[in-house]
Amino acid sequence: MRQEHQHYHADLEAVDDRRLNPSQAADLDSVINRSRRQVLKGGLALAAFGLFAGMLPGCQRSPGTPTAAPLMGFSGVAAQTSAKFDQVLVADGYTARPFFSWGDAVLDSAPAWLDDASQDWQAQLLQAGDNHDGMHFFPFEEAPNEHGLLVINHEYINPTLHTNGFTFTELDDGRRQRPVDQVRKEQAAHGVSVLEIRRDANGHWQRVPGSRLHRRISALTPMAIRGPLAGDPRMRTASDPSGTEILGTLNNCSMGVTPWGTYLTCEENFHNYFVNRNAVDHATRPTHQRYGIGQGQHSAYYAWESVDRRFDATPDPTQDHLGYVNEPHRFGWVVEIDPFDPDSKPIKRTAMGRLGRECAVVSLGDDGRMAVYSGDDARGEYVWKFVPDARHDLANPQASRNLLDSGTLYAARFDEDGTGRWLPLIWGENGLTPDNGFADQQDVLLNARGAADQLGATPMDRPEWVAVHPDSREVYVSLTNNHERGSRFPLDAANPRPDNQHGQIVRWREAGADPAAIHFEWDVFLLAGDQPGALDAAGQPLPDNLIGSVQGDIFSSPDGLAFDAAGRLWIQTDSDEQAAHTVNTGCNQLLCADPQTREVRRFLVGPRGAEITGITWTPDYRTLWINIQHPGISYPASDGHSRPRSTTLVITHDQGKVIGS
Ligand code: FEO
Ligand code: CA
Ligand code: CA
Ligand code: CA
Repeated sequence: MRQEHQHYHADLEAVDDRRLNPSQAADLDSVINRSRRQVLKGGLALAAFGLFAGMLPGCQRSPGTPTAAPLMGFSGVAAQTSAKFDQVLVADGYTARPFFSWGDAVLDSAPAWLDDASQDWQAQLLQAGDNHDGMHFFPFEEAPNEHGLLVINHEYINPTLHTNGFTFTELDDGRRQRPVDQVRKEQAAHGVSVLEIRRDANGHWQRVPGSRLHRRISALTPMAIRGPLAGDPRMRTASDPSGTEILGTLNNCSMGVTPWGTYLTCEENFHNYFVNRNAVDHATRPTHQRYGIGQGQHSAYYAWESVDRRFDATPDPTQDHLGYVNEPHRFGWVVEIDPFDPDSKPIKRTAMGRLGRECAVVSLGDDGRMAVYSGDDARGEYVWKFVPDARHDLANPQASRNLLDSGTLYAARFDEDGTGRWLPLIWGENGLTPDNGFADQQDVLLNARGAADQLGATPMDRPEWVAVHPDSREVYVSLTNNHERGSRFPLDAANPRPDNQHGQIVRWREAGADPAAIHFEWDVFLLAGDQPGALDAAGQPLPDNLIGSVQGDIFSSPDGLAFDAAGRLWIQTDSDEQAAHTVNTGCNQLLCADPQTREVRRFLVGPRGAEITGITWTPDYRTLWINIQHPGISYPASDGHSRPRSTTLVITHDQGKVIGS
């Protein structure tokens, strides 16, 4: 028996890369109700899609009016290539402040965080989780730019969650045993934080003490199942024989927001949490095999199954009970959360399909038809959209509460001539039949990846975030990188570089700007990477596959992507800045791009070891929040302590300008 502590971050990145608010108590209800009415009127929806700011006093521009002034009014900052860079550098005239870090209080009863990481799982359940990722600011109607809810995903956990890192005890049979107190704390550090926040008299954003809206959702929170797989035998487990309730959400990466004012959190690399030790059985289950569920005699990445049986998906043929072979079916979904109702049960929407789902971004047409776009972040996976059967009625948004329970799921095919087609995942059509392993639509949804293989969708270079232009509805997707392009996956027009280390951004225009269209036209917006003639660390010319098409400031590995109301495209990066190919792009960063001119300008650089992810604004776009995820060296968190920890930054211009203008 051997005990081992792990402190490093590099492996976690590798895992990510695997393929496969009673100060107000008396009148709070009326505030919520008014904010809800704003939702009902569609105001919040418009804010979500970036149109609201255009209608606010002080903003000259209305949606659809071309801007005369250049989109970007800031000076770009330099790339930071030093291995010792441990700061946040932001454009001149702007200030970035740490706002919300792992361990900060969410619930009022949370104990103050201790930087020796000695606190237990019950404390963690009341505090901010780890690895802040996608997030959204839901404004309150009465003071939308000064008061609202900040909802933040906590994607996974770092070894710094514990005083001395993760503890694994290696057993004689090769399995790894975990201490139960560590596992519980890790489960508690996953999920979502809902935080009521407000600007104080000095203009600083603060958590509102005493709010009943503060909430922590974790890997231990009961959730409902809706849609075609609710109660389905394939969703049943020993602890949920009815297949109607799931404990928790995992690996919440990016997100989306609905026009009816709810938050969609997405379950990305859920496969890392499960193991099926029966290799023969594993190979017969596409819902395990095609999704990268761990197999063989070894343990899952965090070995939670050593103390929590439901993470062991190995069937037990000697016993006549359900076991947990279906537990991996219960993750990989879009989870809908009503942030305005702290007592509401989160809902897993199975009609939208099961993916390593990065995001769920809504595009709303004039006639109420909508699409929800998603990336599936693994090498060679697909770009997706879900089109609900029913239209969203702006005059009656509450009627859309269950809109995501029926509709058509599509995977994208990008053809060489710049056209493309959405391929519907409909059981019984185009080979989605029993002969090919699909007994019914539920099989199609559980193995959406396999169904898209059958349909001939285009394997992409790790599809991450999607962003929809506020005026044109043009859709952009970040393809972060894929070193197996040109070897395991053939080159194509949308994924044109072999050994693609830097990634690209692809965009498309739906026919008639209709989110529900079947046909689209697409082009490559940019290839990330160095500029022609660039040299490596030894002064030698870089190989062609590292040369990009970026006009302006270079970067590697686009990931987070979002438009503001003026149509600036904001790009966040998640590159390995220890790698040789990032010698010139350096630490991860936030950049801004002009979709028309294609110019890219660097707005912010983060500390070494961190990914920049998650982005949201106040409706006036004068306050910006982003996340510094898993900083590698010391970085000042919200209280100035030095244990590296994921942190939400709040960014404002010193004279209160619109961010980036
Ligand atoms: Fe969690 Fe694909 O990033
Ligand atoms: Ca990440
Ligand atoms: Ca990401
Ligand atoms: Ca990433």
